[in-house]
This record gives sequence, structure tokens and C-alpha cells, in this order.
Amino acid sequence: MDCATPWTPRTADVNTDKKLLDVQNLSVHFQTPEGELQAVRDVSFSLRAGETLGVVGESGSGKSQTMLAMMGLLANNARADGQVLFRGDNILNVPTAQLNRVRGQKMAMIFQDPMTSLNPFLTVERQMTEVLQIHQNASRGQARTAAVQMLEKLRIADPLRCLQSYPHQFSGGMRQRIMIAMALLSQPDVLIADEPTTALDVTVQAQIVALLRQLQQDHGTSIIMVTHDLGLVAGLSDQVMVMYGGRVMEHAQADDIFYNTRHPYTRALLESVPRLEHADDALVAIPGMPPSLRNMPGGCPFAPRCAKADNACQHPAPLQVVALSAADHVCACHHTEGQA
Ligand SMILES: Nc1ncnc2c1ncn2[C@@H]1O[C@H](COP(=O)(O)OP(=O)(O)O)[C@@H](O)[C@H]1O
Ligand SMILES: [Mg+2]
Repeated sequence: MDCATPWTPRTADVNTDKKLLDVQNLSVHFQTPEGELQAVRDVSFSLRAGETLGVVGESGSGKSQTMLAMMGLLANNARADGQVLFRGDNILNVPTAQLNRVRGQKMAMIFQDPMTSLNPFLTVERQMTEVLQIHQNASRGQARTAAVQMLEKLRIADPLRCLQSYPHQFSGGMRQRIMIAMALLSQPDVLIADEPTTALDVTVQAQIVALLRQLQQDHGTSIIMVTHDLGLVAGLSDQVMVMYGGRVMEHAQADDIFYNTRHPYTRALLESVPRLEHADDALVAIPGMPPSLRNMPGGCPFAPRCAKADNACQHPAPLQVVALSAADHVCACHHTEGQA
């Protein structure tokens, strides 16, 4: 039964002057049988409305734990310190009931495996419409119409049939689209996409990235795109933050990350990205493996794998502005490249 009052979806705040999200010195520790381990160390960044931040680093760099801490979704043995300001209010470590008002409505997160978010036993319709009915007082009919429109935006053929189906009836790429549609339905101001295309083939990856870009243009949604693939964020991000061993190694406007690279780790990641136009070039895999939390080097975490490492690298390098002309370009390296 439709209610008489018209229901209108919320729109994202596109006041670009203000910081939507401001993360300050976020750290994550885990209590383990071997003692306390630090997975994220003093991560700071901010995001304006409509902006896209790419968060890049190899597996184990602390990307997901950073995002989960912001969403209040860390494991029970974890502790988060620092500040996560959403429109000026600290949402880190606030009680779950209070956080639920932000989470899901203003900040949504999608994962590599859509089945983490999709319930196999419920129809797509139930899952998509519930959030609007419960959190936004939409009637069943209004929620259904909004779901159909969102599925159409994600170019899902026959949205009505899709709504009646169960998640297992779809391919991986389709499930990922349904999850994105579900996350976007409540018109979040920030969408955190954690390796959303890692399990998909390259063609479907490109389609999903194009859809995210389109949706961002239509709704002004801010996106945090988390991936191990620097190539994936190239065409999508305004700023890029490179993480390794739980720390920020380099952070700058995307162009500066790609064309004015300062950290040897960022350079190594760039050299390991396959490029279509250089299909014959040998890819340079980064030698060695990322460190485990138990064996984190005392100095720069990348030093054991870095060609430039010397004695200075036995001490951690502070995150510093690389040049006066680029105050928003920071790098944590004793041998910052291209420094005058
Ligand atoms: N519940 C936990 N207890 C202990 N360590 C954990 C736990 N969850 C994750 N970790 C560790 O935190 C580190 C960072 O993980 P993660 O943020 O998932 O990396 P990324 O997303 O960059 O691949 C990893 O070394 C991982 O093993
Ligand atoms: Mg991860």
C-alpha cells in the first residue's frame, strides 16, 4: 500500500568546499595470542563531496582494516584510535546504534565478494527494498520503483525479473552490480568500494568502473576505491593514497602519483601495472613479499625490498611534503625521488 505523502530520495551534499570526511591519525591494533599487533599506523586523509580517493597497496597493507575501522566494522580483537570526522562529527568508536544512522545511509561499503552483503535466502527485491522501507520510510511500492530505477542505472536487463530472483541465479559480475545498486539505493554520501572488481574478469571490471564513474557524476557521491591495482584507480581517482605495512607511503593528487612519483614503493607498483600500449614490455614484479605484522621491520617497512635502501632506512621515514609547490603531495622516504 502506497502512502499518500510523496517519497523523494535523498541527494548527496555537493558543497565542495567542505570536508565530508576527515580522518586523523587512524590506527588499528589487534590483540592476538602473540601479543598486540599494529595493522594500521597513523593514517590521515580527507575527502570532499564528489571526490574519489584511490587507496592502493599490496595485500596486507592495512587498506581494508582502515576502511572497516571507519565503518565501525572491525573484528572483536581490534582497537581503533584516532578520529574519523564525518561532516565534523567524530564517528570513530561511537555506540553502534548511533553509528547505524551514518552507516548504510551516509556511508556504504561494498566488498570483493558480493555474497558478504547479499543474503542467499532472500530475493533481490527483499534485500534492496528493506533499507528504504526501514530507514527512509518508503512504502513498498515506492521502494520497488526506486530499486527498479537503480537496477536500470546499473544496466541490468529485465529489472523486474531480477527483483524476483535469488543471488545465486546471477553471475559474479551481475551480483557485484546488484550489490552496488543496493549500496547506492540509500544515496550514500560516501561509497567505500573495497576491491570491488578483484574477482571479476577484465571486461566486467572496466564496466563496473565506468558505472561507478557515471553514478558519481549523476549523484555527486564521494568514492573511496580500495585496490591492489594502481592501474584500476588511474582513470577514476582525484587523489591516490599508497599504503604499505599499515602506513601511508605516498599521498597526492592522482596526476602527481602517476607523473611525479616520489616513493620507490609507488614506482615499483607502477612498474608492475600491465599497460595495453606496452604489451611487449616485461613487467617488473616487486621482489620479495610484504612483511607480516609479526615481522614488521623497525624502520621503513619497504626497506627490505627497496633498491634504494641504506642505513638511514633502518629508521622510519616521516611523511613529509615533497615540495613547497605541492603542499598536498606527501611521501615517507629518506630517499624521496626527484627531490632538489
Ligand atoms: N582479526 C585480526 N587479528 C589479527 N590480525 C588481523 C586481523 N584481521 C586482519 N589482520 C591483519 O591485518 C593486516 C592488514 O590487513 P588488511 O587491512 O586486510 O590488508 P589489505 O586490505 O591491505 O590487504 C594483515 O596483516 C592481516 O593479517
Ligand atoms: Mg583488503
